[in-house]
Amino acid sequence: MMTAQQRRFLGILLEELSVPQRAGVTTREAVAALLAVEERLTKVGVRSRVNLVKGNFYTDPLPKGCDLAWVSAIVHQNSRQQNRQLFRKIYRALDAGGRIAIRDILMEESRTAPISGALFAVNMLVGTEGGGTFTFAELRDDLKAAGFVGAKVVRQDAGMNAVVVATKR
Ligand SMILES: C[S@@+](CC[C@H](N)C(=O)[O-])C[C@H]1O[C@@H](n2cnc3c(N)ncnc32)[C@H](O)[C@@H]1O
Repeated sequence: MMTAQQRRFLGILLEELSVPQRAGVTTREAVAALLAVEERLTKVGVRSRVNLVKGNFYTDPLPKGCDLAWVSAIVHQNSRQQNRQLFRKIYRALDAGGRIAIRDILMEESRTAPISGALFAVNMLVGTEGGGTFTFAELRDDLKAAGFVGAKVVRQDAGMNAVVVATKR
């Protein structure tokens, strides 16, 4: 069963796929999530346009030859060190000029706002080894350490829907 939030973001993916001239999409996910995605893609008739790859993004290689990596609601489960490793891996998988787009909660420099992000950080403190919620400066520095340039916030949001984009040189 998918949550309302998962349904919403799958909706965005489906919207992208409904534009015929756009490229196909490769999505890397854990098995349970893959099954839910596969079922939904099949139901709406775009399954053949999506390459679903089963795997662990910490330990398995990422597929090469991509021009966009959509890292959606992932960075909060990681420590900054883990994010740097993941960003390096993504950097290597992208074509030159490719972009990484990170969708997550973005904290203000005070780290006390947005409140939902501060509460979510406590949630990550309890539920993960080193996860948390990050400021733009932290993500920018971690992206830079992985080789990305031009990091910018392209969508501000008080919840999980802020988006930061950076480019592989
Ligand atoms: C918060 S959900 C985000 C799901 C989806 N990307 C979205 O934006 O709605 C985190 C997802 O990451 C997946 N995940 C966590 N660790 C993973 C790993 N090491 N390799 C692959 N997928 C992983 C989980 O299965 C889960 O679906």
